Amino acid sequence: NQKQEEIILSGKEVQQLMQCLPKATFVGSKIMKYQGFWYHDNHIQNVLAFQRHFQARDTDLIIASLPKTGTTWLKSLLFAVVNRAHYSTNHHQNPLLTNHPHELVYSLETDVYSKAFVYPHPHHLNELSSPRLLSTHLPYASLPESIKNSGCRILYITRNPLDTLVSLYYFSMKVMKKYFSMDVMKMILGMFYPTPSMEDFFEAFCEDRIPFGPFFDHVVGYWKESLEQPDKVLFLKYEELKDDPTIQLKRLAEFVGMPFTSQEESEGVIQQIIDMCSIKKMKELEVNKTGVINKLFEKKTYFRKGEVGDWTHHFTAPMVEKMKKLMEEKLEGTDLSY
Ligand code: A3P
Repeated sequence: NQKQEEIILSGKEVQQLMQCLPKATFVGSKIMKYQGFWYHDNHIQNVLAFQRHFQARDTDLIIASLPKTGTTWLKSLLFAVVNRAHYSTNHHQNPLLTNHPHELVYSLETDVYSKAFVYPHPHHLNELSSPRLLSTHLPYASLPESIKNSGCRILYITRNPLDTLVSLYYFSMKVMKKYFSMDVMKMILGMFYPTPSMEDFFEAFCEDRIPFGPFFDHVVGYWKESLEQPDKVLFLKYEELKDDPTIQLKRLAEFVGMPFTSQEESEGVIQQIIDMCSIKKMKELEVNKTGVINKLFEKKTYFRKGEVGDWTHHFTAPMVEKMKKLMEEKLEGTDLSY
């Protein structure tokens, strides 16, 4: 169909570009470097389509993150804050109780502009009412021009890199375990074996070879924008959200132009949202226990432990020391720390 062709881009164009890109592997899957960042080879086409066709609205709210840094949690919190006037948080009609957060806040390059066109279709974006809630893993520099130049706002979340790695390891292992024998998985992620270890993930990270990374370039890119354009980019940390969710939720609500009123505060609305979006509550929901997102990822794999500091059980002292040095080097000149 003609509309799809407009968005998919010609296979030839994508092939030509992919031939020129630097290539590597990330724990067995093929990745390519585009505009300084790594992508699974099956994502390149989506990224190009997203960059070329997405038209931001001034009212859009876009979550940006590296995978496994708290995207799903932030999706649920943002949805709850923005829609709090429509659905009382303890009401059974709140869509967060009957939908996985990824079904309420669409991922742009991995869902909307996926060549698989599962759901939603890119044209569906035009039908969404404002403010549209969307998400991306692209680095700031690679975002479509219309995101940078419109009034839309970006909420970035980051997380301790070692905890992110632990989370990525378990997520990837679950996905591989379920699918690696299936042809579809090999086709989609280009996986081959042997089974990767935590050391393999760690090594890939330290060599700046992780999907959507290098990690610190991604973080510093958004961090700089949050300083230069504080009304455009809100910078959040997973650990701070865990530590004091009330303060961070107030920051979030103010940033999106919907601050909590004193009446809401005294009625306990903030705490209700925190409780509804807690990992414990999210895990208990039937909708998050079964089924898959976009025919591939089991919904339950997005909720594991949800803790700060799980890394202490997974890395040796030399590995921790190596990461500490890497952090010092890469974050020099910023006041960022984890
Ligand atoms: P762990 O694997 O460390 O438990 P992402 O959403 O970016 O894919 O990140 C997934 C990580 O966020 C997982 O971390 C997951 O458990 C955690 N997470 C998901 N929902 C959460 C919530 N409501 N509160 C806290 N953490 C959550």
